[in-house]
Amino acid sequence: MPLNIAVLLSGSGSNLQSIIDKIEQGVLDARIRLVLSNKNGVYGLERAEKHGLPTKVVKHTAYDSREDFDAALVQLIRESGAEAVILAGFMRILTPHFINSFPDKILNIHPAVLPCFPGVNGQQQAVDYGVKISGCSVHFVDEKMDHGPVVIQAAVPGLHRDDAKTLGARILKMEHRIFPQAIQWLAQGRLSIEGRKVDVKDCPAPMVINSQEDSALVNPGLENGF
Ligand code: GRF
Repeated sequence: MPLNIAVLLSGSGSNLQSIIDKIEQGVLDARIRLVLSNKNGVYGLERAEKHGLPTKVVKHTAYDSREDFDAALVQLIRESGAEAVILAGFMRILTPHFINSFPDKILNIHPAVLPCFPGVNGQQQAVDYGVKISGCSVHFVDEKMDHGPVVIQAAVPGLHRDDAKTLGARILKMEHRIFPQAIQWLAQGRLSIEGRKVDVKDCPAPMVINSQEDSALVNPGLENGF
């Protein structure tokens, strides 16, 4: 049985696209029941529509409080039949009510190797700090921002002449691989949380990618197709 998911976004939706592609390629056993945006007219919605996926826009500005906004999201997600929530560039902080509505079933992607550079503009923060390594993380969501237990991380080089755009592009390529992989593990019931640690059942060994285009260290390693 595929995992029913809702994908929440606020922007271009390239991570949504990577999830759609892996589902269509038959390697990710999930079904997107709803694509939810808090903004009209973003490209992520167009991508969803191109693939015939149901979309909804819920503008946070239409609600008096975070709680009311989140209650509306929870209701729509429940009605869609989604059991898990995928935050793919969703630029809102979620309330405890939202988080407790989908226990251990909310994943987020962050463009830095957490706990470094949480919050917005992780790529710019990394460039400004001058780090030689940055990357991306998929983690379960708890009540603190970019904080919950980590499922998978990829490290990529930070180069002398990088700006947020060039480093961000290198990171994004890895986001598009680790996020669908983490969702697949969730779909397969292979993730268990022990305190801050996530155990991946039959955990693949760490993997080094060293091709002409990409170099990265990914842990746990990616499985076939990801
Ligand atoms: C990504 O960098 C992701 O890590 C962050 O928001 C961005 C979303 O990009 N959380 P996209 O909309 O998936 O292209």
